[in-house]
Amino acid sequence: MSKALIIYYSETGNTEKMAKYIEEGIKKEGIDVETKKVKATKPDELLKADAIIIGSPTYYGSMAAPIKELLDESVKFHGRLEGKSGAAFTSSANIGGGNETTILDILKAMLIHGMVIQGDPQGDHYGPVAIGSPDTRSIKECKRLGQRIAKLIKK
Ligand SMILES: Cc1cc2nc3c(=O)[nH]c(=O)nc-3n(C[C@H](O)[C@H](O)[C@H](O)COP(=O)(O)O)c2cc1C
Repeated sequence: MSKALIIYYSETGNTEKMAKYIEEGIKKEGIDVETKKVKATKPDELLKADAIIIGSPTYYGSMAAPIKELLDESVKFHGRLEGKSGAAFTSSANIGGGNETTILDILKAMLIHGMVIQGDPQGDHYGPVAIGSPDTRSIKECKRLGQRIAKLIKK
């Protein structure tokens, strides 16, 4: 059975809330999903998932250090994540505060692993973005991503 893994870092809870809404979207499609804090995630857990969705607050226009640390540790599995689906999401304080660059930095690492990234022609194109705590719009984007990635791994 296909399985999705959501990994996130969240200092003040905003990114964590996004992770829960993404989880809801995935469950709605009947896909098994586990949501974990990055510090409780071991790199070898990446091997077991068909989809890996990573969330980080925007820190200086990029991902928070614990997310980068996990991605750097994942080098020991280089080549073995190929073909898995990937996605990323972030919360930042400001519009134009570097949220899209944060998502793209995570997606770049996934692409280097050979993972499959699906853009979104209608919603947040690179991945869900919240300004602070997720509002109605970003909650919808999170659920939408969950459903889309679940549909992708079903294919
Ligand atoms: C070290 C640090 C760097 C940050 N850098 C940015 C930034 O570049 N742009 C921005 O809009 N917000 C920035 N923020 C604000 C956070 O991205 C924002 O508060 C976010 O909602 C926190 O998510 P969390 O509740 O999941 O921890 C920064 C916060 C911290 C602590």
